[in-house]
Amino acid sequence: MASKERLFNPTLLLIIIISSLWDSSAALDTLKQVDVLNSSQYLVSAKRNFTLGFFKPTSYYDDNNNNNKRIYLGIWYTNYGNNRPVWIGNLDRPISNDLRGFITLDHLGKLMIKFDGGDPIVIDSGTGGVEAINTSVTLLDDGNLVVSEVNSNGSIGRRLWESFDHPTDTHLPGMKLGVNHKTGRNWSLTSWLAQNDPASGAFTLKWEPKARRLIIKRRGKP
Ligand SMILES: *[C@@H]1O[C@H](CO)[C@@H](O)[C@H](O)[C@H]1NC(C)=O
Ligand SMILES: *[C@@H]1O[C@H](CO)[C@@H](O)[C@H](O)[C@H]1NC(C)=O
Ligand SMILES: *[C@@H]1O[C@H](CO)[C@@H](O)[C@H](O)[C@H]1NC(C)=O
Ligand SMILES: *[C@@H]1O[C@H](CO)[C@@H](O)[C@H](O)[C@H]1NC(C)=O
Ligand SMILES: *[C@@H]1O[C@H](CO)[C@@H](O)[C@H](O)[C@H]1NC(C)=O
Repeated sequence: MASKERLFNPTLLLIIIISSLWDSSAALDTLKQVDVLNSSQYLVSAKRNFTLGFFKPTSYYDDNNNNNKRIYLGIWYTNYGNNRPVWIGNLDRPISNDLRGFITLDHLGKLMIKFDGGDPIVIDSGTGGVEAINTSVTLLDDGNLVVSEVNSNGSIGRRLWESFDHPTDTHLPGMKLGVNHKTGRNWSLTSWLAQNDPASGAFTLKWEPKARRLIIKRRGKP
């Protein structure tokens, strides 16, 4: 009897049901060099805080014909829907209404968007080095998308690129803002052009080394 009771333990049953539901909805947080993430797939960070995928910006003003055919790679808070991403990977080069777009790590280990009718969009340009290395890309729970080298034994090695070094219009906890005087690297924010157009808008938030202040400028004027 005791073993039967354990077998039909409702708590255990609930745990089994929940974990199988969880599994069926579980998305990966990491893309390996051989993998592809297509336009209807997502990366979700380990604790589900952030999601990465393709999205189409919309606004109240879009008509029903949905004239906006620009598609972007974005990261957004998993629980706030996908209307307002906190980061965009291809600000200057949206892909047109092409559902066959996908992201992948190419044979050199570079993160890129591939789509019909155009050259691939390289997301992690500037990592330096042209030699083929094995990489993987992971979406972390703070919203940072990180490309890392994968060692020959499969362990994660050097961090090669991170989206936190390339902010768009949103500052998340853990990001930097300002200038690194040793490397010359700087981090700033730029507003969207319009509610449904993430292209560079009129406003920037930047550290001004001479004034030693963070300054918001509108078309270059404080
Ligand atoms: C993306 O891949 C999944 C899994 O292979 C497939 O079910 C889905 O149809 C694909 N979506 C597109 C838009 O190709
Ligand atoms: C990179 O690592 C993945 C996962 O370990 C492996 O499947 C793949 O063959 C490796 N690719 C290269 C180019 O070494
Ligand atoms: C992820 O979300 C949880 C729950 O909201 C929060 O407690 C945690 O601090 C978040 N993690 C990061 C790294 O922001
Ligand atoms: C895997 O390789 C890296 C770099 O070659 C090394 O630092 C690390 O200790 C190795 N890890 C294991 C578990 O062997
Ligand atoms: C910020 O970085 C960009 C590109 O790396 C560079 O062109 C620009 O001069 C830098 N700005 C400052 C204030 O250092």
